[in-house]
Amino acid sequence: MQQTFRFIAIVFLFSFLVKSSSAQTYNQLWIPDTLSGTTFNLTVKDTLKQILSGQQTVTGGINADFWGPTLIMKKGDLVHINLKNKFNDTITIHWHGMHLPAVMDGGPHQTIPPGVLWQPYWTVNNPASTLWYHPHLHEKTTMEIAKGIGGFIIIRDSLESTLALPRTYGVDDVPLVLTSRRFDGSNQIVYTNSVYGDYMLTNGTPSAQVSLPKQYVRLRILNAEIERGYNLGFSDNRTFYIIANDGGLLNAPVAVTRVKLLVGERIEIMVDLSNDAIGSAVDLKAYNSGQAFGFPGGEPATSGQFGSLLNNIDFPVLHINVAAATANPITAVPATLAHNVYWTAADATVQRRIDVTEGNPGGKPFSLDSTPFVLNYINKTIPFNNIEEWTVKNNNVFGHAFHIHDIQFKIVARNGSAAGVGAYESGWKDVMYVPKSETVSFVAKFNDYSDTIHPYMYHCHFTSHEDGGMMGQFVVKDFSNSSGIENVSKHELDYNLFPNPATARVYVQFNELNNEVYYITVINSIGRTVMMLPQPEIPKGIDVSSLAKGIYFVQLMDKNTKSITTKKFVKE
Ligand code: C2O
Ligand code: CU
Ligand code: CU
Repeated sequence: MQQTFRFIAIVFLFSFLVKSSSAQTYNQLWIPDTLSGTTFNLTVKDTLKQILSGQQTVTGGINADFWGPTLIMKKGDLVHINLKNKFNDTITIHWHGMHLPAVMDGGPHQTIPPGVLWQPYWTVNNPASTLWYHPHLHEKTTMEIAKGIGGFIIIRDSLESTLALPRTYGVDDVPLVLTSRRFDGSNQIVYTNSVYGDYMLTNGTPSAQVSLPKQYVRLRILNAEIERGYNLGFSDNRTFYIIANDGGLLNAPVAVTRVKLLVGERIEIMVDLSNDAIGSAVDLKAYNSGQAFGFPGGEPATSGQFGSLLNNIDFPVLHINVAAATANPITAVPATLAHNVYWTAADATVQRRIDVTEGNPGGKPFSLDSTPFVLNYINKTIPFNNIEEWTVKNNNVFGHAFHIHDIQFKIVARNGSAAGVGAYESGWKDVMYVPKSETVSFVAKFNDYSDTIHPYMYHCHFTSHEDGGMMGQFVVKDFSNSSGIENVSKHELDYNLFPNPATARVYVQFNELNNEVYYITVINSIGRTVMMLPQPEIPKGIDVSSLAKGIYFVQLMDKNTKSITTKKFVKE
């Protein structure tokens, strides 16, 4: 007993000494691997990671033990994803910021049970930008993101490529995903009744450090928190340049010393290290102290559901050690970056308003328009090609980060005034901060994709709020197109599968003309879904080479009538 006490006393004294000494110890920043090309193979799985000393932490990862690979895509490419769910729960994976068909979008409706291969594909239409992918299963988004499932997407295009910008991944162009986590006594992630972490994790690394060359470097920063906002800056208050928002490059760089980044938002910054001595260091920090109540993470408590050791303080995000310059360093920030032409309020033909409702002190979870999310209720139908102005009014006690799928928008007013919109948020956006008691408006065009079956989402990106029902959904409907008409009489698709039995590919052969297949699902002999193919590319057939031998059922959903016709095949 006495010995135990002495041991605890020594440990306590030791940890006190470590905390109070200035000789910080750092861990090397983990930088995700990249995947590029046009086919991306992703396996979502349960895994373990050594985050703290002692016991390992149960995490979720994609081809990795926390987070996932950075997918490098080229604008104009047709990309195919093979996403295998080996996670011990149903997931969905959403391509945040990507302009793509709703059936490929990976929202809460596109559930991927364990063991299933999901094969979405699309043509990359977004300009050069930093997007991300993450789980979106209703009521489990927080848990699945907290465990670490997610990844970056970097889109390149011919415009961005001609600019003199840092572009060597992991050298002068570094992605940073900012999160914090709380751990229990066994080093396991706490994700219930807790919205803020106590440990800063940068790319999953606690107390992260990195060596960067003595020149202009580019940091692509994503806030992938549950709720916390970041007010970012450097420890010597140096000026840095915002070159891109959520949806891509700004027209011109914006010089700042601080910038706020809310959940879901991305910025790309350039910071000049050329005047720093080799061997010197500078910290990227969160200057989160002194934020008004309503800024997420500004709450004073240090523990409990809305408290944390990182609340309302300034803390380091990344320790940067300055190293020798590379052979051909970037030496300036280009004065002109892009030539975006933005929608204005005058372009909008429809105005919609969304109210932030409920929440404390009302006692109920936050919602939008007093309508908590319901999976089978479509909140809005938007005519295809509409240009609309949406105004989000926060009458509320707390700030929120409003996000919408499908499109990138232009923020046109804060509290009714265009002058209220910050230069730092002047580019294409898909998330916007709506501080407490403020009103923010954006304009967007709902073009290119329409689909009355699968909806897109709009929601608060605080995953705890989203899981709590602060979400709605919309379909984009083409009223000029017969496929948008709902009440076509049901009819069975008339087709054969060949070869049958099959070893590698199964082809669908129709016995009538003009069939449009919306979805193919392959089910095994005990009724489990094993493959999901949204808007299947019929002439290519179904690649069944990864399936075990046995009997399977192919279900084809007709695009116009939604009727499902099932056929059997044998995998040999
Ligand atoms: Cu980042 Cu609806 O998602
Ligand atoms: Cu999204
Ligand atoms: Cu919210």
